Amino acid sequence: MALAVALATGLAGCSGSHSILDPAGQAARDVASLWWGMLAGFGLVFVGVVALWLAAFRPRERPARSPDQERRLARSWILGGGILLPGASILLLLAFGVPTGQRLLPLPLPGGETPRVIEVTGHQWWWEVRYPDEAGEVVTANHLVMPAGEPVDFHVTGADVIHAFWVPRLGGKIDMIPGRINRIRLEADAPGVFGAQCAEYCGVQHAHMQLHLEAVAPAAFEDWLAARREPPPEPDDAHAAARDTFAAHCASCHRVAGLYQGDSGPDLSDIGARATLGAGTLAMEEGAIARWLAEHQRLKPGNRMPAHDHLAPEDLEALGAWLETLVP
Ligand code: CUA
Repeated sequence: MALAVALATGLAGCSGSHSILDPAGQAARDVASLWWGMLAGFGLVFVGVVALWLAAFRPRERPARSPDQERRLARSWILGGGILLPGASILLLLAFGVPTGQRLLPLPLPGGETPRVIEVTGHQWWWEVRYPDEAGEVVTANHLVMPAGEPVDFHVTGADVIHAFWVPRLGGKIDMIPGRINRIRLEADAPGVFGAQCAEYCGVQHAHMQLHLEAVAPAAFEDWLAARREPPPEPDDAHAAARDTFAAHCASCHRVAGLYQGDSGPDLSDIGARATLGAGTLAMEEGAIARWLAEHQRLKPGNRMPAHDHLAPEDLEALGAWLETLVP
């Protein structure tokens, strides 16, 4: 029974949005085969060691050996078990692992073309995502959209402490180090939604540093980018009060394209279109932004946005209702 439960629990981790054993891209397939190869290798070593251990208990006549024969036997055990076997295992792992690591590097493509670049910056505790583009840079947060079926180079860095960018079903992970840009190439085989998670402990809300990653068909990706290049519409009269509240309390940290240029908090230009709030803390649904504004220090304690206790609940509701309309 205990074995069945342990097995079921273990196997449950093999699928789902964050499983390295359910790869959805070449880099992740390489990592998964490396994992299975190592599991098989270590399984063989384990079985061998247990077999030798059991054999040691078998009652038997010890053959009479001269001291010289004993020395030779001991030497062959040390040579075989202590040097040859570990050496061969390490060489095998190296032959398997080095090409895998090489394939993850953003080397020039055979045709000389360069993949699209998406810049991701880790902050305590959210993700800034930038799409440098000649037609105009697009900025978003905590929600990354990429084209499927083509390689994408991620240039990652950290704004404050070390974070790590990890999309288990596509590959990775890679450190996001302040003052340095690390590069990783990932490709999604087909459109889909993939979980991504900060993989380096970065402070009290490390667990609430999730990234919603969506791979879409290349044409849909171009449409998505084009929609985000347009600034959101000016708030109409119904949202005028919310805009005043935003100008007074939020605009120094948050950007809304065309209206406000704060840059220390997440860009909110398309917040109405995101899947979650607080980098995976709360699912986006009607009324969720107002709830987040009122309770964010309870939902994600220690996050860098000050509490809004000095604002009236109806002001927060109005603010949430306007922000929900920011959908490109
Ligand atoms: Cu960012 Cu852990």
